[in-house]
Amino acid sequence: MTAEITKPSTAPLEWEYATSREATDILDLEDKYGLFIDGEFVKPKSKSYFPSINPATEETIAEVAEAGEADVDAAVSAARRAHTEVWGPMPGAERAKHIFRIARMIQERGRELAVLETLDGGKPIKEARDVDIPLVAGHFFYYAGWADKLEYAFPGIRPESLGVAGQVIPWNFPMLMLAWKVAPALAAGNTVVLKPAETTPLTALLLASIATEAGLPPGVLNVVTGAGKTGAAVVSHEDVDKVAFTGSTAVGKLIQSQLAGTDKKLTLELGGKAAHVIFEDAPLDQAIEGVINGIFFNQGHVCCAGSRLLVQENIHDRFVDKLKRRLATLRVGDPLDKNTDVGAINSRAQLDKINELVESGQSEGAEMFQPDCVLPDRGFFFKPTLFTNVAQSHRIAQEEIFGPVLSILSFRTPEEAVEKANNTPYGLSAGVWTSKGSRILWMADQMKAGVVWANTYNKFDPASPFGGYKESGFGREGGRHGLLPYLKWSES
Ligand code: NAI
Ligand code: MG
Repeated sequence: MTAEITKPSTAPLEWEYATSREATDILDLEDKYGLFIDGEFVKPKSKSYFPSINPATEETIAEVAEAGEADVDAAVSAARRAHTEVWGPMPGAERAKHIFRIARMIQERGRELAVLETLDGGKPIKEARDVDIPLVAGHFFYYAGWADKLEYAFPGIRPESLGVAGQVIPWNFPMLMLAWKVAPALAAGNTVVLKPAETTPLTALLLASIATEAGLPPGVLNVVTGAGKTGAAVVSHEDVDKVAFTGSTAVGKLIQSQLAGTDKKLTLELGGKAAHVIFEDAPLDQAIEGVINGIFFNQGHVCCAGSRLLVQENIHDRFVDKLKRRLATLRVGDPLDKNTDVGAINSRAQLDKINELVESGQSEGAEMFQPDCVLPDRGFFFKPTLFTNVAQSHRIAQEEIFGPVLSILSFRTPEEAVEKANNTPYGLSAGVWTSKGSRILWMADQMKAGVVWANTYNKFDPASPFGGYKESGFGREGGRHGLLPYLKWSES
């Protein structure tokens, strides 16, 4: 008997992914969360609560306290007392032990933190698990290492802590933004009052209980939840010495004007509209992956997202074709599914903003492409989208969309690429793809952006400073530079 040999099929393979959902039973959630002040969870004096929902299902996960002015005042007093009595006088080596312990516990409880980050904010679990939380632990480890070496970080000066830091963070990277701000503040000997974003407060509260388990003295880290009003109460509190804000340019400008004339130190990390420049000699397939990562990572809710693609004219059509094919393979849907590439839009408000800007793109004459994918019936989702025929004057080429939407322009010469890249009120990040090293250096020098990635995108390291020019803000976070905003000094 001869076995029948079947000829291999020439039809393209259609891979279907079986759902692989991350379990949520690792979480031990409360129905209602108080404010974390002076080492314990307390009921808000305001008596007011608000829901934090899961944007993928629109279901309420928990009620969270809304801190009023009296609550913020209690948090600032606790932070002041902890700074004067405990954390300020503590030797750097002892502070380091505390921060190292928090870093190790973040690693130990990494899965729990990642699942909660995904549940509360909508980002794909594979990103929360493989990018956000490892980087969070990395930042705590990195800054723990500086706590007893501050005098060597900046030779010739005798650094001292400032006192109480008031920190307001956004919803796109709730834990990572916490780490960028809390780790250097604590390492430098400051105490903290942190205000997480109203759509993603839960991981900051979990971190507060982790820090307590790690033995962090009461008052060193306080978490006050709430929306813009709570944030305003933190930044304008007269006993706060230093304000650090990440969020929209509009609120950043407001804070800057409120703080004018006070002696508070301020750093602002605001929006962006990064140019991602592809030259004809770039490794195109790698560049496609870089572009995809640049704009679809975290649903495009990324301040440094590569949202303006500049492609050299002679490869434009070929590159756009490849990009469209790649867009069609992105899996959009349940953020808890380990296969998901593009998760939920963080809130209905953000979805409305994306829709409004995408409509403006269509009405201003750009050409829209979306792959044929099915979105879940419930929750906030948006198809990966690209626009061609974009003019520099279009709103989609100028304004931060903060969603999975890419605007594509073309250029002929490197000079034209630079001119277009810099034609923005922002200056946070940029990307360049070319096989010529000299061109990379020339472009990096010409493009007005705090970070320029070459033949890669969205690479982060705790040792590397990050921050912007122009309306993207000022001050640097990360690296040795990230300690400076939390220190004052006398010449030694
Ligand atoms: P937002 O700037 O209002 O929110 C960021 C944080 O600031 C939140 O914690 C919020 O509660 C707080 N806040 C709001 N008003 C405040 C005030 N007056 N004083 C102190 N704190 C205040 O940003 P929103 O409305 O959530 O997003 C709007 C747009 O901003 C997005 O579409 C995006 O374009 C941009 N954005 C940029 C971010 C970035 O990382 N660069 C992060 C978040 C938003
Ligand atoms: Mg939420």
